[in-house]
Amino acid sequence: MRALLKVTLFAFYGVSAALLTYSAHAVELGDATRGLSYAQQVCAECHSVEDDGMYSPNPDAPSFKAIADTSGMTGTAIAVWLQTSHPTMPDLIIAPQDTDDLIAYILSLRSKSSP
Ligand code: HEC
Repeated sequence: MRALLKVTLFAFYGVSAALLTYSAHAVELGDATRGLSYAQQVCAECHSVEDDGMYSPNPDAPSFKAIADTSGMTGTAIAVWLQTSHPTMPDLIIAPQDTDDLIAYILSLRSKSSP
């Protein structure tokens, strides 16, 4: 009986946690600070991820600032890019929340003057 109760409670909390995550996700856009730390861990291997970084470790990888300043670059375009395969890293799988954080971070690098 106790075990069953535990399982039921566990399932209940699991579902409400999932719902909470979902609604937070729907309302709130990404967090640029978390996006930066994620980028430093995962993307900085190839990309220059910081505002003042001009040269990427991998010369084929554009700096995040250059990505942000590419004309027509939007959160959607970045999201699509991140969900389709990176040519050099087909196994990169980024969770939706991390994707939002990364997008918020990348777009925060945009030069004020660009549209
Ligand atoms: C193993 C190296 C590598 C890693 C790690 C990497 N990238 Fe890339 N990325 C590249 C290369 C190389 C390109 C350029 C490919 C091209 O233009 O065909 C690229 C291109 C991109 C583009 C498209 C730029 C454009 O102008 O369309 C985005 C956005 C991007 N990367 C984001 C990320 C993010 C976010 C991460 C971390 C989660 C990441 N990358 C990790 C190598 C990498």
